[in-house]
Amino acid sequence: MADSLFLREFLRAPLRTGAQQPSSRALGAAMAAEIDSNGTDPVVELGPGTGVITRALLDRGIDEHRLVLIELNPSFSDHVQRSFPRATVLTGSAFDMRRLLTTEIGGGIEPRISGVVSGLPLRGRPDALRRRLLQDTLDLARPAAGCFVQFTYWYDSPVPFDRADINGRRTRFVPFNLWPASVWTYRRRTG
Ligand SMILES: C[S@@+](CC[C@H](N)C(=O)[O-])C[C@H]1O[C@@H](n2cnc3c(N)ncnc32)[C@H](O)[C@@H]1O
Repeated sequence: MADSLFLREFLRAPLRTGAQQPSSRALGAAMAAEIDSNGTDPVVELGPGTGVITRALLDRGIDEHRLVLIELNPSFSDHVQRSFPRATVLTGSAFDMRRLLTTEIGGGIEPRISGVVSGLPLRGRPDALRRRLLQDTLDLARPAAGCFVQFTYWYDSPVPFDRADINGRRTRFVPFNLWPASVWTYRRRTG
């Protein structure tokens, strides 16, 4: 059912959906493994689709109440809200994350977050937009542990970044996915 929903949405909007099928469980687990499961601050997922990475975050021991899922496609946001009723699901654009989090979960004040995992199709998006998404994440996240995690089917970094301030690297490679994928993790350099 989740797979047929995904295929239907891909056929309807291929560029926005970004893949013909959901990520594999192996890729979901590799993404979730980058997030610190301790703590109480929200963990934000961008573009949850049918919830493969969301499920892996729960399997990692992250409490469902901590999850904030931002999804542009209402068919997917309805789906994940039904599957994860205790998570906060926001239907809107990930590129509006800072404002959405402030108004919808911070009560007007910018909330602190543990980190962001993203399944967004970022290739082809303007550099400035991708840089701002990374910068916003690291501004909201705790300096030491907070991170931005993104997968890509390509070899190089899916987000351009300033190497003096930010440590970004390919942290995992997952062959068991269509297509084989790399996980990139970005953290602010400290000290
Ligand atoms: C490649 S799919 C990944 C889905 C899921 N995370 C997975 O790994 O199976 C990309 C997802 O990002 C969503 N998406 C695309 N652009 C978005 C945006 N600007 N804001 C939020 N979600 C977006 C799509 O609707 C889709 O659910």
